[in-house]
Amino acid sequence: MPSETAEREEHMAKLYVNENKKKGRINPEIYGHFSEHLGRCIYEGLYVGENSDIPNENGMRKDVVEALKEIKVPVLRWPGGCFADEYHWKDGIGPKESRKKMINTHWGGVVEDNSFGTHEFFELCRQLGCKTYINGNVGSGTVQEMSEWVEYMTFDGVSPMADLRGKNGHKEPWKVDYFGVGNENWGCGGNMRPEYYGDLYRRYQTYVRQYHKDAPLSKICCGANVADYDWTEKVLTTCGPEPSRFMDGLSLHYYVTPGGWEKKGSATQFNEADWYITLAKALYMDELVTRHGAIMDKHDPEKKIGMIVDEWGNWFDVEPGTNPGFLYQQNTMRDALVAGITLNIFNKHCDRVKMACIAQMVNVLQSVILTEGPKMIKTPTYYVFHMYKEHQGAELLESCLEGSGETGDEQTQVPALHESVSVSEDGTLNITVANLSLTEAQEVEVVLTERKGEEVSGSILTGGMGAFNTFAEPDKVKEEAFTGAVLTERGVKFTIPACSVVALRVR
Ligand code: AHR
Repeated sequence: MPSETAEREEHMAKLYVNENKKKGRINPEIYGHFSEHLGRCIYEGLYVGENSDIPNENGMRKDVVEALKEIKVPVLRWPGGCFADEYHWKDGIGPKESRKKMINTHWGGVVEDNSFGTHEFFELCRQLGCKTYINGNVGSGTVQEMSEWVEYMTFDGVSPMADLRGKNGHKEPWKVDYFGVGNENWGCGGNMRPEYYGDLYRRYQTYVRQYHKDAPLSKICCGANVADYDWTEKVLTTCGPEPSRFMDGLSLHYYVTPGGWEKKGSATQFNEADWYITLAKALYMDELVTRHGAIMDKHDPEKKIGMIVDEWGNWFDVEPGTNPGFLYQQNTMRDALVAGITLNIFNKHCDRVKMACIAQMVNVLQSVILTEGPKMIKTPTYYVFHMYKEHQGAELLESCLEGSGETGDEQTQVPALHESVSVSEDGTLNITVANLSLTEAQEVEVVLTERKGEEVSGSILTGGMGAFNTFAEPDKVKEEAFTGAVLTERGVKFTIPACSVVALRVR
């Protein structure tokens, strides 16, 4: 008869970590964010103006900026989204009282007073200490308009645009780290066909000048929607034979909609079947990255072009009673699991995925922060970004799970656990594991091939499947210290509760 210990060993999932197989650096930008002129993301969420009663520094909310600094935001994308291809940057510079007011036709039909423009965006990024990703207008803008924007932002010398920038109070040029040449040009950005966009891309990007030779901006070409592999193939062919001459990145957009676009479903009222279908759809990101990546490998075998997943996340029905054009949704443990899985996938594809931006930063779709007037809450997704932050800039390690099996219901089966592992410069191992099961805790043994762990610490995010934070109860779901991990001869042992995300640090 097998002993009790042997039986437990048998049921224990194994997570093998091979420190001899370093698989590339996890670009910090994989943990990036997206902020659009949409609903209450920019206005109220991030920017309240200098005269607001809400405490602010140069118009940026202090509480929100403080919270965002804690998750080490590496890069911020702005001003859209669909808004980018309708945005005319000159409307958003100069004295605020004389900036044009207009209707944001795309999002909610509200007045856009352009009080947040180029100068305010760079001020926000300065306060966050993050890189800048500006998305230009191809759909309804001219080559000249795009070219002048780049000159306005980055030219250091005598020129009409640099002079105008000086007149508007910023003599020094800014650093634009990434510049997107259009957004979703297969859809809201002009309904173009790939060959046509590919040609336009070649033309527009020519005039996105590199004014800083030692700090060039990276040019991002508009990539595919979900599984539109034909778009990837044709855009790269049109920009060939060596597309890396013209682009540093190619984007990809994928949103998880549990019931499809027609029946997205509530963010908070859902059942077990919705839980598993949502997680299965989040796991689909792996196939998308793999298959688009294979096409990119054909055109760019040396992997000079980064895959830029600059819009990802859950898209549910808006909260009842809110403007349908504002895309405001709550955020539960289900969102936390989707974030944990997706970030693990990006880590594991860090040889090709060089940036990813969750949609969106505040008050829109799968946000990390929600606000209501002067109040602010951190969402479950926020805590996942906080728990995963040590992966930023670390080296991905080969890892694999054995014996954790599958979980789900009659319709949908998903792996019970999902992980990624990296090693920081100081030698600390960062292990992030998500338990996708709604019912089963799992015992896990991390088997380290190259070291005997000396110290382990960690944190956990857990709660019922629909648990979320409200303005009345802001701390219902929050990251807590995880003390359940113990060192063993071979590594570390712990039990991961059902429906949770755990981050361990092993020295
Ligand atoms: O994130 C909301 C919208 O989704 C963006 O504006 C657009 O690019 C995408 O379709």
